[in-house]
Amino acid sequence: MKKIAVFTSGGDAPGMNAAIRAIVRSGVYNGLEVFGIFRGFEGMIDGDIIQLEADSVSNIIQRGGTILKTTRSARFRTQEGMKAACEQLKTHEIDGVIALGGDGTFRAALDFKNHCDIPFIGVPCTIDNDLAGTDYTIGYDTAINTVVEAVDKIRDTADSHNRLFFIEVMGNDSGQIALLSSIGVGAEAVLVPESDNDMQHLIQVLDKGWNRTKTSCIIIVAEGDEEGGAYKVAEKVKDKFDHFDTRVTILGHIQRGGNPTCMDRVIATRLGVAALEALMNGKRDEMVGIINNQMAYTNFGSAVKSHPPIDKNMLRLTEILSA
Ligand code: F6P
Repeated sequence: MKKIAVFTSGGDAPGMNAAIRAIVRSGVYNGLEVFGIFRGFEGMIDGDIIQLEADSVSNIIQRGGTILKTTRSARFRTQEGMKAACEQLKTHEIDGVIALGGDGTFRAALDFKNHCDIPFIGVPCTIDNDLAGTDYTIGYDTAINTVVEAVDKIRDTADSHNRLFFIEVMGNDSGQIALLSSIGVGAEAVLVPESDNDMQHLIQVLDKGWNRTKTSCIIIVAEGDEEGGAYKVAEKVKDKFDHFDTRVTILGHIQRGGNPTCMDRVIATRLGVAALEALMNGKRDEMVGIINNQMAYTNFGSAVKSHPPIDKNMLRLTEILSA
């Protein structure tokens, strides 16, 4: 293996730059030539590929976003797109590729393997923390800390006005951000797609008349919850409890930006180096992850097959503590 390439794909995640840095620097350390593919699979199709040196990744470990840019590529889902991408990799004499992304990226890589014989290794990067085969994905820790910081501020104003707030956090089919952030902010209830009786708990909290004992009420709603987003949940509740002064906040894309936390930088560095070494050791079509603080390798198919289950014991914490 002489030349390898790295690219970022799908939704960006804080810590992607730290992972790019780790891959480039460890590649150079091992005597490899490392190339960056810009704009994900789109750039692969277009041949938007340049060589990166150790100093190309100076001063990026602390930056959110991705210096390589990212896309969700529709063209790559076509036979022609994949054929063109493979030809570009061959033209650049790339011997192995490291893909930084989430389940969409690894699904695409899985498909690509039937059209191109170049080995791929994946590094889990998504704020959603919804991949099997790793306890943490890069970006999750930063995202939950961003949520906690924002909700702490909302709590101040909610408290001053005795208000009920519904706060929507990201996670189109995963409640991992909602779960941990709800514990971190001391939310009165949390609604996640993985549980279908959380609306009952919410009604109980409101039935008890929270404002007789507390001065504010924070409900965290995962965007993918089956009841609908925060606005829909607030509407449903309003019919029954029209005496509450209710507000809704959608935190949105602030959750995807910002400087990565130390935890995300360290995880990204460990996973980046492990991905490079996995390619050099002949592994292919696998995602590197961290399970119980040890490096783990999961084939792309298993990594995207199903979301890791929500921890029911963690979910109970909000119920127990919301009294
Ligand atoms: O997958 C990460 C994620 O941030 C989800 O939580 C969210 O639903 C989605 O991406 C939003 O994607 P986009 O930025 O393309 O609207």
